[in-house]
Amino acid sequence: MPRLVSDSSGNAGASIAAYGGRAGMAVEVFVPGATSEKKVAQLRGYGATVHRVPGPRAQAASAAIDHVEATGAFYASHVYNPLFHHGTKTFAFELWEQLGRRLPETVLVPAGNGTLLIGAAIGFRELVAAGLGERLPRLVAVQAQRCAPLALATRAAGQSRGRDAPPAPGEGAGETIAEGIAIAEPARLAQMLEVVSESGGTVLTATEAGIASARLALAAKGVDVEPTAAVTYAGWLEWTEAPGPSSTVLAMTGAGLKAGGYC
Ligand SMILES: Cc1ncc(COP(=O)(O)O)c(C=O)c1O
Repeated sequence: MPRLVSDSSGNAGASIAAYGGRAGMAVEVFVPGATSEKKVAQLRGYGATVHRVPGPRAQAASAAIDHVEATGAFYASHVYNPLFHHGTKTFAFELWEQLGRRLPETVLVPAGNGTLLIGAAIGFRELVAAGLGERLPRLVAVQAQRCAPLALATRAAGQSRGRDAPPAPGEGAGETIAEGIAIAEPARLAQMLEVVSESGGTVLTATEAGIASARLALAAKGVDVEPTAAVTYAGWLEWTEAPGPSSTVLAMTGAGLKAGGYC
């Protein structure tokens, strides 16, 4: 039986577990120790073997790679495999379709490893190249202030704009309630910065308190998301240059039911 291995904060792993299981493959997913019980239950529900690895997300990634090297299983990494972005690019196509066959001006996405950010950029580029939209939407990558390597890099390059409030030195690799984007050293950092800048977008950060209150505010509007997804709303609320809601899309990437309680 073909064997797949992945590391994930729980959501990409769920897709790999679901599709891998459906294709008759044995799937093993390495997750950080603090991953929510519900995400782990979903992975197990799809038939995956789950390995909880103590420590931050990077530890889960290196445990997965060690396991791949020891067993010869296929590493179905959504970080390294370029084909994965041709799956996430369908986000751009769905958006275009749901907006009545047009592109928005600005799109905010949570950014950890950049799987959605890079996929969205590919999808928007393809739509423009096909003559189905005039201009690339501005891509805005939103990170948790406590783990914001993109903001640190843009600040280092003197490209910080708006109120993106890059973290103080030493704060850049902290733990955050936005567990899905707690990636201190994304392998595709340069590519992530490139797609943001190509689109004329920017990088924003959201504080822990901002993320928690944005999550509550979204719930009050009837939208229940996990903290990782609430970063886009938190970032937008604090963005002084934010365009009006009619031309802006905030990606709500993770359902609230899979995360811990509201705080
Ligand atoms: C809910 C949620 N949103 C967004 C992301 C963004 O990840 P990436 O930057 O790799 O697209 C993740 C990753 O696990 C996630 O779980």
